[in-house]
Amino acid sequence: MTEQLAVVVLAAGMGKRFRSATPKVLHKAAGRSLILRVLDSVTALRDLGRLLVVVGRGSERVIETVESKFPQAVFVDQPEQLGTGDAVKRCETYLGDWEGPVLIVSGDTPLVRTESLQELVDVHRKSKSPVSLLTAILEDPTGYGRIVRDESERLLRIVEETDASPEVRVITEVSTGIWCFEKTPLFEALTQIDNDNSQGEYYLPDAALVISAKEGNMYTVTAGDADEVQGVNDRAQLADVSRQLRLRYLEKLAASGITIEDPNTTYIDEGIDVGPDTVIRPLVFLEGATSIGRSCVIGPSVLIADSIVEDGAEIVFSQVKGSHIGPGATVGPFASLRPGTRLGAGAKAGTFVEVKGSIIGERSKVPHLSYIGDTEIGSKANIGAGTITGNYDGETGVKSKTVIEDGVLTGSGTTLVAPVTLGKESVTGAGSVVTKDVGPSDVVVGVPARVVRKRKRENEGNKKEGTN
Ligand code: UD1
Ligand code: CA
Repeated sequence: MTEQLAVVVLAAGMGKRFRSATPKVLHKAAGRSLILRVLDSVTALRDLGRLLVVVGRGSERVIETVESKFPQAVFVDQPEQLGTGDAVKRCETYLGDWEGPVLIVSGDTPLVRTESLQELVDVHRKSKSPVSLLTAILEDPTGYGRIVRDESERLLRIVEETDASPEVRVITEVSTGIWCFEKTPLFEALTQIDNDNSQGEYYLPDAALVISAKEGNMYTVTAGDADEVQGVNDRAQLADVSRQLRLRYLEKLAASGITIEDPNTTYIDEGIDVGPDTVIRPLVFLEGATSIGRSCVIGPSVLIADSIVEDGAEIVFSQVKGSHIGPGATVGPFASLRPGTRLGAGAKAGTFVEVKGSIIGERSKVPHLSYIGDTEIGSKANIGAGTITGNYDGETGVKSKTVIEDGVLTGSGTTLVAPVTLGKESVTGAGSVVTKDVGPSDVVVGVPARVVRKRKRENEGNKKEGTN
């Protein structure tokens, strides 16, 4: 049986270069904090036995964030940030009984994939080396520890940027800060390093060099994808990593049959499902608990959050939050759908329309300039331009409901003073202010609206037609 693996994630640093009141690892890249992204990759490793997270500055907040998502994590306190060597040393008592290898990962490398970590662990096990390091060749190695080798490619030194001479700075092979150690030599070596360097810190790389000096060469693996091991030390790098993560997900969506016209202006949170043959036009933001069906057209300029959009819907120049858009429904241009909106199949919320907490039934249309709040509209109704529901009583503060039954036609500029019901197939004239319920098929006009034509009801022949 393979020995279990212990993983140490270093997350105690404040991230001086971030200049932030929030610990660096809690900053988000494409919607998920750096530390959670690292832990996503780490916890998918095979044979993971123990997970330690070293915390220091802002530890309460880091612990709170990690604990809720990764309850198996054990937190190790590093009271003073004396360097990566010191951070690992703090883990010794937590690994006293440990037998297997120890993988060490920085909390600020959010792009790292499980496969790359697994490869390092696997070759470490096979090579039986006391220490293995993942290196990378970077076009711009600025900020990283450089790998100095002799003519026979033997690793001689690892030199931090701040300690490097100009000759060393041009070296493009760097340490990724991702290591695999055997436990006993690791903690032995950590007692032998000093902090005699430009930062006055105890460097973990120095411990690795102590081991390799004693036990022979250190094993190195070069990462196939250099971008993946990128560390995030400042906000420019955070933006860069966010962009890469975003594009990674967009590529995945594109591969599953979605047209994304302009990936540079498309922001889709990871995990949001989009059905095949949907076209995402420029400037689209899809956020939160959102899903999009197949053959939809979304955009340009659309923000959709926490909403479900069914097959064949079209949304253009609009904001949609907490809503459900039925199949073939159309939204926009310039519509704002607020939480609790439901559009039935083939329904429309058109130009300059705001809807809140309302149902617009199958094939009903609200084409222009309306506010529809706390309203239930049946099917095949047509809401004239500028129809407004007065759902809020300014004196009592009470919000009331409007019911518009199937096939109703409202004239332009109708105001519906809730609570009020427009019966099936009733009609309001332009500019009516409706304060009382309207019977089925009745026609009302005026301010306040009065009935001008009563529906002919069976068995009501002796009643006068209402013209009150
Ligand atoms: C580190 C490595 C460098 C490597 C680079 C890869 C050292 C000395 N340097 O440099 O060789 O090329 O990562 O990205 O190891 N941390 C603690 N406690 C501390 C100091 C740091 O927990 O006392 C944590 C930080 O929160 C961070 C990680 O360790 O998550 C790395 O620290 P950072 O300051 O970012 O090191 P780099 O300068 O990037
Ligand atoms: Ca770093």
